[in-house]
Amino acid sequence: MNIDVFTLFPSWFEWFTSQRHVANALAHGSRLEAIDIRAHTPLGGGQVDDTPFGGGAGMLLRVDVMDSALRAHYGVDAVQVRSTRRVIALAPHGRVLDEALASELAEERALTMLCGRYEGFDERILDHYASDVVSIGRYVLSGGELAAMVLCDTVLRKLPGALGDERSATEESFSAALEGNPEYPHYTRPAEYRGWRVPEVLLSGHHEQIAAWRRERSRERGARTQGRDGR
Ligand code: ADE
Repeated sequence: MNIDVFTLFPSWFEWFTSQRHVANALAHGSRLEAIDIRAHTPLGGGQVDDTPFGGGAGMLLRVDVMDSALRAHYGVDAVQVRSTRRVIALAPHGRVLDEALASELAEERALTMLCGRYEGFDERILDHYASDVVSIGRYVLSGGELAAMVLCDTVLRKLPGALGDERSATEESFSAALEGNPEYPHYTRPAEYRGWRVPEVLLSGHHEQIAAWRRERSRERGARTQGRDGR
């Protein structure tokens, strides 16, 4: 997987790419590059944004600036890029990221992510350069960078070699192995703490019963509408 992230804050991704599971994925043949949009602006003084026509608060990332960054990086007309790879603009109103979308994107050979700042993008960036608009939830962040990291994280961990134990990727929340349900509860040592006992079946060593217990808890969690405490 080859990921390019266009951002005004490329240094944020230095921390991200040094995290172990991301570094593992990169060591197994993936690549993640953060491209500084500002470095390619055709405008003076490093300008990248402007006020919205029609008035309103905040600043928008300019279409000519994004055009110039895409063209400089890929060496083709910026509108051509999305015909060769998915170009994902991160924005709060986009398709909400879920496990199905993460799996779909993990099948791609290459991804491009566009991070907006301030009030977001000039709409023409979404219309003419993006193939997808993705949101990580219905709330507003101050930019697309954290959303891009979330998206990279969930996609990269699906690639072979990113996780130490391959089973942890297949039998996890929302996977086909769990019929799309959330994962069952986990426990570790001590088996009893302040009188709170781990379910006996998990200590029994009886693999079939453990598997059945886990399937049942996972289905229960899937069926239950979450309460205010998230359970
Ligand atoms: N940019 C700002 N808020 C966002 C969100 N919730 N998801 C994706 N990108 C964003």
